[in-house]
Amino acid sequence: MTQPNNPDTRYLADYQPFPFILEETRLDFDLAPDATRVRANLKMRPRDATKDLVLDGGSAVELLSLHIDGKVPDPALVARDDETLTIAAAALPDAPFSLTTEVRIDPSSNTAFEGLYLSGGMFCTQCEAEGFRHITFYPDRPDVMAPFRVTIRSEKPILLSNGNPVSVGDGVAEWHDPWPKPAYLFALVAGDLVAVRDVFTTRSGRRVDLNVWVRPGDQDRAGFAMESLIKSMKWDEDVYGREYDLDVFNIVAVDDFNMGAMENKGLNIFNSKLVLASPETATDADYERIESVIAHEYFHNWTGNRITCRDWFQLCLKEGLTVFRDQQFTSDMRSAPVKRIEDVRALRARQFREDQGPLAHPVRPDNYQEINNFYTATVYEKGAEVIGMLKRLVGDDGYARALDLYFERHDGEAATIEDWLKVFEDATGRDLTQFKRWYTDAGTPHLTMAEDWDEAASGGQLTLTFSQRTPPTPGQDDKPPRVIPVAVGLIGPNGDEVQATRMLEMTEAQQSFSFDGLGARPVVSALRGFSAPVVLDRNIDDATRAFLLAHDTDPFARWEAGRDLAMSALISLSQGQAAGADYIDAIGRLAADDGADPAFRALCLMLPGDEEIATRLAAEGVTPDPDAIHSARDDLARRVADAHADLLSDLYDSMAVSGAYSPDARSAERRSLRIAALGLLNRIDRGDRAEVLFGTAGNMTERMAALICLIRRGRGQAALEALHDQFDDNRLVMDKWFSVQVMAADPAQASGIAQRLAARNDFDWKNPNRFRALLGGLAGNHAGFHAADGSGYDFTADWLMRMDKVNPQIAARMSTAFETWPRYDAERRENARAALQRMAAMDGISRNLREMVSRMIA
Ligand code: PHE
Ligand code: ZN
Repeated sequence: MTQPNNPDTRYLADYQPFPFILEETRLDFDLAPDATRVRANLKMRPRDATKDLVLDGGSAVELLSLHIDGKVPDPALVARDDETLTIAAAALPDAPFSLTTEVRIDPSSNTAFEGLYLSGGMFCTQCEAEGFRHITFYPDRPDVMAPFRVTIRSEKPILLSNGNPVSVGDGVAEWHDPWPKPAYLFALVAGDLVAVRDVFTTRSGRRVDLNVWVRPGDQDRAGFAMESLIKSMKWDEDVYGREYDLDVFNIVAVDDFNMGAMENKGLNIFNSKLVLASPETATDADYERIESVIAHEYFHNWTGNRITCRDWFQLCLKEGLTVFRDQQFTSDMRSAPVKRIEDVRALRARQFREDQGPLAHPVRPDNYQEINNFYTATVYEKGAEVIGMLKRLVGDDGYARALDLYFERHDGEAATIEDWLKVFEDATGRDLTQFKRWYTDAGTPHLTMAEDWDEAASGGQLTLTFSQRTPPTPGQDDKPPRVIPVAVGLIGPNGDEVQATRMLEMTEAQQSFSFDGLGARPVVSALRGFSAPVVLDRNIDDATRAFLLAHDTDPFARWEAGRDLAMSALISLSQGQAAGADYIDAIGRLAADDGADPAFRALCLMLPGDEEIATRLAAEGVTPDPDAIHSARDDLARRVADAHADLLSDLYDSMAVSGAYSPDARSAERRSLRIAALGLLNRIDRGDRAEVLFGTAGNMTERMAALICLIRRGRGQAALEALHDQFDDNRLVMDKWFSVQVMAADPAQASGIAQRLAARNDFDWKNPNRFRALLGGLAGNHAGFHAADGSGYDFTADWLMRMDKVNPQIAARMSTAFETWPRYDAERRENARAALQRMAAMDGISRNLREMVSRMIA
């Protein structure tokens, strides 16, 4: 990952505190689409009077005037380059002073959606990570915090910023945020908006006005977001003792947004797809996602805002913790085992994949060129796993004490991972030196488990020997052993648990643990609850896996046994060997088990995806063949359907939910089993059930599932047209429409279909959601993207180059479609490398995309 000699590279080791203290920030905005004026008044005080004052400011920020304590400084002492404005120490008093600037910016030409921009006529901002510097000159770094006072002048009816409203008049509004914050948490919105309103009273009695702001006409799709917000506020009080700290909490939905959502203090800004939902337009998965992202952004108020990050290397301090908290929240609101399995699936699909290739980096990176490239699955999802491990190691009480100490000690500060680990050490007395490797060392550890059974020793003794090994990652060859919590239980031959979950703590490269007095040899249930983000290798036959699938008391381990069974069948099939009988048998028994909850059964019925199979093969050192994987999966699914047609058909009928649609967890779980059954039956009924369902279902969950089935059977045309006619004025549904037909396409046709869709007038590609729908749809079609002739690579590279000129962040993020390229065969590698080199050679390539492609080619 290290790119020496690149002047753009920033290093964690180079951190220096800012030589000035910022006491207050006043901003005055005169909004106009192509000529917005921003007056900034910064009250500052030197920490070190010998230092120049260097302010960040992008090249599109035009300086109109500059005053220090009301006077124009000597121009020879002021210097401007593309990224900064420097005022020499000689021009600054050695005492508190006020710095006033006036600048002009052009929101209408801001297509990168960073800083102040327009979305559908509405002014809005996005400042994380370094967007504020495109609004005005400022120390744009997270460790410089100040209270903000903001005045907005505009003809737009609704004018919002952070904090509490001071005054709202005709064409002008003033806001005050008393909580010191870094610039990345600043936000401003001005638009023609309407609110869904509610009120929340905090446990100490503060009355908080809640508003979810949307475009007129969208109010009836914002209610679920509001319910989710209220649940989140209550949960954070109950579980973490964290109360909200302002009189208002605003959420605004915008259509053009680079990410999911943003936790600006008191004014969260959301991608509209994470706010708007109705039964006709959103799926159960969309509802669950909305609930968790609303929670995530709300939780940031304490983990991110009240306590922020010292520098961007510490990004996981707020993101890993906040993801962990939103995962806990969802487990409490819904089924905890199902949530855990879903999270592990996502982790493997995105983070293990990242860790395996050229983009692998530590949870806390120590260098980067463009921080926007590090909002990754490793920082977020692995960052959350690391906290889960900490909690497992210190126990629930230890975790609670450490968190209390964290809030008490660091409230109002910009903290580091060292600070975070220190509160755990101080609260629990534990030494976390070795644990810290989870933050500094990249790569997924492989854990091998060997069993030794000694009937004669200690009344029947089982010894488990674990060894750990982490493959090298870019810039890190040496991987010393880590602390790994391995949760283990034992199941006796009759299916009863003989050893409840025990947390084994592995600290050495190789280590043994014994269980005595067992009588008969038990079956080991290992890595229960996915107690650590590792790949577990064990020598286990299919019969034992089937036994665990039938008897394990730990839901994750039970699901995993089924997963392994499926995986071993798929791998054999993809290598041309007959397999699958044990899986088909065992899965039938589980699907018929009415005692198991429906969503769990649904998860067990879902075969691993092509991408997951490829990742597993690559982890074992085998070159994945995308076409063979795809047909192995088809083949196994068809055989499952053939073997269990009656059972699946019963499930399909009996899991139908009657009455009006409700997004609640219970109903969603039944629908998920129904859809899993449909997906399998679709292989043998030529799509007939799906066609009926598409025409009759009153909710998007079932219609979308049916549509996917129809596309898979090559008969999706009529349904696609119907959906288009019904929803062509709904951007969010149209995004699904674009993505599903590429994602579910026959791989041989996927890039051709993508090409055709990209030529349509309504492929509004500058909208990040639309672009992601199409390009992400293709990247999600494993054998389609990795077509041997390189057509998927070429199509993607062409569009990334086009997007890079408009929105470098999106181009760079989507370029991760290529991150697995080194694991494929020579022909594919040649094609992928050519596409990457074409991008690297592009004239005027952005720093964002350049960093990504050069790391991938290296
Ligand atoms: N901080 C946001 C979140 O995770 C993500 C984000 C990053 C949004 C950068 C916009 C820009 O909650
Ligand atoms: Zn976040």
